[in-house]
Amino acid sequence: MSGPLVLGHVPADNALYYGDCLEWMSKWASESVDLIYLDPPFNSKQDYNMLYSAEVAGDAQYRAFADTWVWDDAAADRYERFDGQVGDTARAIRGLRRILGESGMLAYLTYMTERLAECHRLLKPTGSLWLHCDPTASHPLKMVLDVIFGPGRFRNEIIWCYPPKGRGPAKGFHRKHDVLLYYSKSGHKTAGTFHRPYTPLTASARAKFSMTDQDGRKYKEFKGRRTYLDESKGRPVPSWWTDIAPAGQSRIEYLGYETQKPVKLLSRIIETCTNRGDLVLDPFCGCGTTVSAARSLGRRWVGIDISSFAVDVIRERLEDRTIPVYGIPYDLLSARRMAVDDPFGFETWAVNRLRGFVPNTRQVADGGIDGRGRLADQPDDWHTRLALAQVKGSKHPPIDGLRAFSSVVDHRKAALGCYVTVDPFDTESARRVRAQPARIHVGGYPYRRLNRWSIADYFDNRPPPLPPMNNPYTGRKMAQDSLF
Ligand SMILES: C[S@@+](CC[C@H](N)C(=O)[O-])C[C@H]1O[C@@H](n2cnc3c(N)ncnc32)[C@H](O)[C@@H]1O
Repeated sequence: MSGPLVLGHVPADNALYYGDCLEWMSKWASESVDLIYLDPPFNSKQDYNMLYSAEVAGDAQYRAFADTWVWDDAAADRYERFDGQVGDTARAIRGLRRILGESGMLAYLTYMTERLAECHRLLKPTGSLWLHCDPTASHPLKMVLDVIFGPGRFRNEIIWCYPPKGRGPAKGFHRKHDVLLYYSKSGHKTAGTFHRPYTPLTASARAKFSMTDQDGRKYKEFKGRRTYLDESKGRPVPSWWTDIAPAGQSRIEYLGYETQKPVKLLSRIIETCTNRGDLVLDPFCGCGTTVSAARSLGRRWVGIDISSFAVDVIRERLEDRTIPVYGIPYDLLSARRMAVDDPFGFETWAVNRLRGFVPNTRQVADGGIDGRGRLADQPDDWHTRLALAQVKGSKHPPIDGLRAFSSVVDHRKAALGCYVTVDPFDTESARRVRAQPARIHVGGYPYRRLNRWSIADYFDNRPPPLPPMNNPYTGRKMAQDSLF
């Protein structure tokens, strides 16, 4: 069921891509990737920064889903795109509409179907796809994948169990597993890369090798056939995985992001379905678990994320700030271009340049606020730790904009505000406006309440003179020169 071969580029490997994965993937050549692992957030449409979630247990995920996926114009447009097509996938979407109506679930499924169909097209004939989800939507997603991949391509439903955290719902069982749907591009039983994983033998399994031959080798015998302990690979891993702890339980590995998956989980998937040198793609790569595991295992990798902060985190996680990142400004000129071509994308990116600030998640006016942060320490002489940011993409921002932002900072009782422009904004009148609000003191040091900063400063490595900030995704104080 492979789609038409489109002429496109093979994605540059060992690189990160910033933006919607659908847009990037649709530019790339068919049959270029060996393994795709995707862990999409339920709230992706609403939140550009779903590296974190306030609650992850129990029905919180369901609520996040229900709050986010509504039938709106974008969903109707997606549906219409399918409705105008022929083929099994379009027919399935039309069928789902009859069952689900114009609902949040249908909105989500149309969003996922567009992206999963692209994933399928990108896979080589020997490739495979792993979709990480949970029981909120694993059942319709499996149906969608069955249609996209075709009969006989479904390999396994892996249940990844993790230990209980919290109390769970008052009624009903505490959900403590995720679902991984594993498909191969080829329907042939022997096609596709598969290296069976093993876990070490348990003590009781080892004890069964109770006999010793004349060379001192331990073995067991069944129907006259000897099996040696030193030749045993271990126990083949079944389809329920109980031996992998969540990332949050490892102090070494955990960066503080709720949705971070454990490296061991990704390593097992990558080692099972790829060979050294193969290309691994994660279209929702978050804080980079897949790319980190792929890199350690000698695979080529590509990560896409719609959050520029995620891209920053990954470069820091891999301790390599030279990793190529496509789609984000790399100099002042490309930043200026982005401010014109994609104003909201620019605002989001610019706020993410401000250490400790998180951009607005919705593309709607928010009283002149484009991002928020929280000071790590309580100011000595101010009652809140709130910090606000506003971004101006226009070439010559009017002085009124700075005045209006100064009022917003006052009105919201923020400890400070940062006004971000593309080029330095340092006129005499701007200096006068900035001098008006009193300074605050943190740990005895004075800081301006109204700050200005520019993208030109960013490219010249001049950070804004702000007090220490919390990482808005983990709530922890950021170490000097680090995002963690
Ligand atoms: C659940 S997290 C992935 C976590 C990841 N597996 C890890 O271990 O860090 C989902 C990620 O998808 C990103 N995202 C949401 N919508 C996206 C889209 N349309 N294209 C690309 N990335 C997207 C979010 O920014 C978020 O970082």
